[in-house]
Amino acid sequence: MNITPSLNGFSQQDGVWYAEGIRLSDLAQRFGTPTYVYSKKALTDAFSAYEKACHKNGRRRARVHYAMKANSNIAILNLFAQLGAGFDIVSGGELARVIAAKGNPAHVVFSGVGKTEHEMADALNAGIKCFNVESIPELTRLNEVAKRLNKKAAISLRVNPDVDAKTHPYISTGLKGNKFGIAYDDVLPTYLAAKQMTHCEIVGIDCHIGSQITEINPYLDALDRVLLLIEQLKSQGITIQHLDIGGGLGICYTDETPPDITAFANTLLDHIEQEGFGHLEILFEPGRSLVGNAGVLLTQVEFLKPGETKNFCIVDAAMNDLMRPAMYEAYHAIVACESNPNAPQATYDVVGPICESGDWLGRDRALQVSPGDYLAILSAGAYGFTMSSNYNTRGRAAEVMVSGQEAHLIRERESIPSLFALERLVP
Ligand code: LLP
Repeated sequence: MNITPSLNGFSQQDGVWYAEGIRLSDLAQRFGTPTYVYSKKALTDAFSAYEKACHKNGRRRARVHYAMKANSNIAILNLFAQLGAGFDIVSGGELARVIAAKGNPAHVVFSGVGKTEHEMADALNAGIKCFNVESIPELTRLNEVAKRLNKKAAISLRVNPDVDAKTHPYISTGLKGNKFGIAYDDVLPTYLAAKQMTHCEIVGIDCHIGSQITEINPYLDALDRVLLLIEQLKSQGITIQHLDIGGGLGICYTDETPPDITAFANTLLDHIEQEGFGHLEILFEPGRSLVGNAGVLLTQVEFLKPGETKNFCIVDAAMNDLMRPAMYEAYHAIVACESNPNAPQATYDVVGPICESGDWLGRDRALQVSPGDYLAILSAGAYGFTMSSNYNTRGRAAEVMVSGQEAHLIRERESIPSLFALERLVP
């Protein structure tokens, strides 16, 4: 079985796969493999789909804060910054990337359960928009750091709305048992505590219920619970200026049918207005839905290895390049970049060279390929490169951005010496 999602920016004609106007096999030859290839058009179109809903009657009613953990290459950040994005960061490293990519720190929100003092200080000095705070100890630490710097930290509390996002347990974050956010019943007392903090200023409220969510109802449930809190806060004299609804909208990897981006964003924004909260500034934090289907991973077939119960197609990409199958049993469609009618048709497990049985990229895939052929692993733009590692002392893949007939190298392949350049022999 090999189900291929319909893609923007990548297409197949007469057995040949293209990224915009360039053959994928030409890119593989020019840049080597494994290489991530992104389509500028697909990135731009996905962003525009959100932007369309973010404007109404000449007014901006929402802004996308790209959750850059999905793909943090500075060329991609720079593209989104130029299109008007803010950013959702989860580390000091991500803040440095935003700055390197010429993003505006004033449009940065800082999420995550374990912010260090250093990271807080750097973010305060950079003048970020808001800290999404997840606990009282974090609030206390932030207040102290801000006091030391003689600054005020703009804060939002991340609410755990206790709704089931109906997604993979590893990427579900809005349920009671998750480490994320402040338990629903504790939110009001935590805001009251925040109000007492001399160097924190309450500006917002946020939630994020999970990732790869393909239904809209969990969002509406979470939204209603958060809107209720905003009402209750108002009666306590706490005014909320912005509501951050988080990210999480799913994409099509096989046959999933997530809502269309613009329709999804419009539904949520219209719902907020209908409930009487049209005055709030709204933030979205999408990651996957902006970049997931805008990237593929190119790899080359090394060997075909028939087995007693399985045939293996051994390729030069591995779990260190794309972790999602090993980690979540995630499905990514795999296609031959050029059809090869002379090759035998067979069913393969597509695996990498790493010494782990978990090192697989696709299972039971019908392929007609020979050693040396190039394959493309589709829908790999989100949580592909960013989750990659150097396991087995493998350099991380190159990254390329295609625009029309042009291809730009946006990250060089890591050289072997660079992999241990920071290590030292003990004298
Ligand atoms: N906001 C916050 C606070 C988040 O934690 C995340 C993702 C997002 C936004 C963006 O979610 P998205 O729109 O991309 O679904 N590695 C996993 C996904 C982990 C998601 C972590 N948080 C995967 O490969 O499926």
